[in-house]
Amino acid sequence: MKRLHSQLDSNSNNIMSQLTICTHSGSFHADEALACFLLKLTDQFKDAKIIRSRDTEVVKAADVAVDVGAEYNQSKHRYDHHQAGFTEIFGDGFKTKLSSAGLIYKHFGKEIIKNRLQLDERKVNLIYKKVYANAIEELDGMDNGIERYPIDVKPLYAVTSTIGNRVASLNPSWNEPQDDDILFKQFEKAMTMMGEYFLDKVDYYGKSWVPAYDIVETAVKNRSSVHSSGEIIILDQYCPWKDHLYHVEDVLSIQTKIKFVLYQDTLGSWRIQAVNLDSHSFALRKALLEAWRGKRDQELSDIIDANGFIGGHKTKEGALTMAIKSL
Ligand SMILES: *[C@@H]1O[C@H](CO)[C@@H](O)[C@H](O)[C@H]1NC(C)=O
Ligand SMILES: *[C@@H]1O[C@H](CO)[C@@H](O)[C@H](O)[C@H]1NC(C)=O
Repeated sequence: MKRLHSQLDSNSNNIMSQLTICTHSGSFHADEALACFLLKLTDQFKDAKIIRSRDTEVVKAADVAVDVGAEYNQSKHRYDHHQAGFTEIFGDGFKTKLSSAGLIYKHFGKEIIKNRLQLDERKVNLIYKKVYANAIEELDGMDNGIERYPIDVKPLYAVTSTIGNRVASLNPSWNEPQDDDILFKQFEKAMTMMGEYFLDKVDYYGKSWVPAYDIVETAVKNRSSVHSSGEIIILDQYCPWKDHLYHVEDVLSIQTKIKFVLYQDTLGSWRIQAVNLDSHSFALRKALLEAWRGKRDQELSDIIDANGFIGGHKTKEGALTMAIKSL
């Protein structure tokens, strides 16, 4: 309540100087709903007021124009993507033409992620790219009408649950009342929906994905203390490690690839898992010794599946010995 009051006070004090974010009126879409939400997470525009209009003078007078105004110019905070000649992409390997969501994310995404997660620049950059790939690019592609598949491939069933569809269905139906106030209220719901979608992704990458990356990176850097070959790593704690391992090997330019990953399972036993050739492959860089496969030896407590993909041992030392023998 206190916070609300001071917010209201500061708004009324600043009524003349309050910044405005203008987006178009009429029916709304996922991209500008997210773009507006993102702007409200920036230091500069967190207190800005959102208005919806297509009136040229109103758009011109606004401090930020999003998805309206037929202009893209960052130094003037004009972020439309509909005009002829607009070709902006995210870059860094991504080639999908941006929507207003992608545009605002491109310019403010790092600041927003940094504010929310308090991580160092390297991690912010990792998350910035991951969230683009896994949350924003699809909005850009859908909004710009870019097909995900060759046009002659017909889907076998309909998918209607995309976030874009859910935002679209917040627009009043043709036979429901739809004045500006009603549309504005519905637009705010769309902003909230897109905001949750976005923040969930940021939190997942910041609080789950990055910590797993750290565990794998630490293990890889420590590989020579585990075995002189450098081909075995021990995870300090179990985490989803596969995608990270390829990435870390890449980043650290590791020539002798990791063959086995050891970690303790929830019951306290140790697992030895063989690494796949690459992220798209089922083939193993090295399988566990054939003689052990499909066996369970009570004495050694080792278990290995028939393909030599995963084995187990009661102790860390035992698991390590199995990995070394398999090299
Ligand atoms: C963007 O706006 C600035 C400031 O008005 C102007 O100097 C610049 O030429 C504009 N850039 C483009 C590409 O129009
Ligand atoms: C590095 O590996 C050794 C040998 O397994 C282990 O004792 C040590 O705790 C590891 N250090 C880190 C930082 O993981």
